Amino acid sequence: MTLPHHDHCGRTISYLRVSVTDRCNLRCVYCMPEEGVPCMRHEDILSYEEITRLVSIAADLGISQVRMTGGEPLVRKGIAHLVRSIAQVPGIKGLAMTTNGILLASLAQKLAEAGLQRINVSLDTLLPERFRAITRRGNLSDVLAGIEAAHHAGLTPVKINTVVMRGINDDEVVDFARRTLLDGWNVRFIELMPLGESATLARAEYIPTDEIRARIEEELGGLRPADLTGNGPARVWRLPGSTGTLGFISAISHHFCRDCNRLRLTADGKLVPCLFSDLEFDLRTPLRDGATEIEMQDVFRRAIDAKPAGHLLSERVTPIHEMSRMGG
Ligand code: 5AD
Ligand code: SF4
Repeated sequence: MTLPHHDHCGRTISYLRVSVTDRCNLRCVYCMPEEGVPCMRHEDILSYEEITRLVSIAADLGISQVRMTGGEPLVRKGIAHLVRSIAQVPGIKGLAMTTNGILLASLAQKLAEAGLQRINVSLDTLLPERFRAITRRGNLSDVLAGIEAAHHAGLTPVKINTVVMRGINDDEVVDFARRTLLDGWNVRFIELMPLGESATLARAEYIPTDEIRARIEEELGGLRPADLTGNGPARVWRLPGSTGTLGFISAISHHFCRDCNRLRLTADGKLVPCLFSDLEFDLRTPLRDGATEIEMQDVFRRAIDAKPAGHLLSERVTPIHEMSRMGG
């Protein structure tokens, strides 16, 4: 029987983010050092069968929405097979992915056919040279082609996730907002969080979303509330006359912990109840040791019960989880 599981704060836990690999084909300045981070060992990474089994145990506990993340999920071989097998798990109603878009152009159609419903593409700049500077490799044109292909394949609404950094790309927020008018884009501006490489950057380059919003409204007019399919903490708006939407994800300036509905699974099989706490629960060992369904469910329950009520991120700068292990 599937019952939505509530935690000790009355939050319904219905959403699982699954990191399918810790590898990435980019090295974004706020996420990874130039040389990358030490890779997980191949044998520590969950197989597609193992991931599917864990998703189905989660579904029995009331998880109905899954988002696949990385690293970069599209660098894992045969990723469409995993999409297909997660999409077939009874109880999973929503299946989405977050990608950097580099490999998306050639995969979008295949992913959609396998059962992926929606996609978020991370994109912090519309300027080719700046793209290279922020990601340290990779071409903007590949990402733009990926976004087009995703639209074409019906992976909609396609959402563009933009991490805004003062002095790096904050001069482009109005250009991104214009894309919601001209091209029907759904853009979500994300506050830089003090995680991974940005632990030291974040103080200087952090911009609260209220400031971004004010700049857009000054240039393009007032925002109206909008509605857009999703399970996340974005607050969503629309410019007058626009088909696209603008969202703001304000992890620092406006806590959304009260409405947090999620758990995270790392590529090596750890269940992480909160991005901002170092708690993790090992699922891989019991899974490989042949634990029963009930014993596995018990680990999920313990993780849910351990979810902190909230974080104090505006008061601390200690890095906790590597973003490249956690997939945002
Ligand atoms: N702060 C905010 N967002 C981040 N991401 C990665 N690191 C950070 C950070 N420190 C985002 C990526 C992508 C998603 C997977 O997580 O830009 O949109
Ligand atoms: Fe939830 Fe932790 Fe995220 Fe806050 S920081 S929203 S408690 S997972």
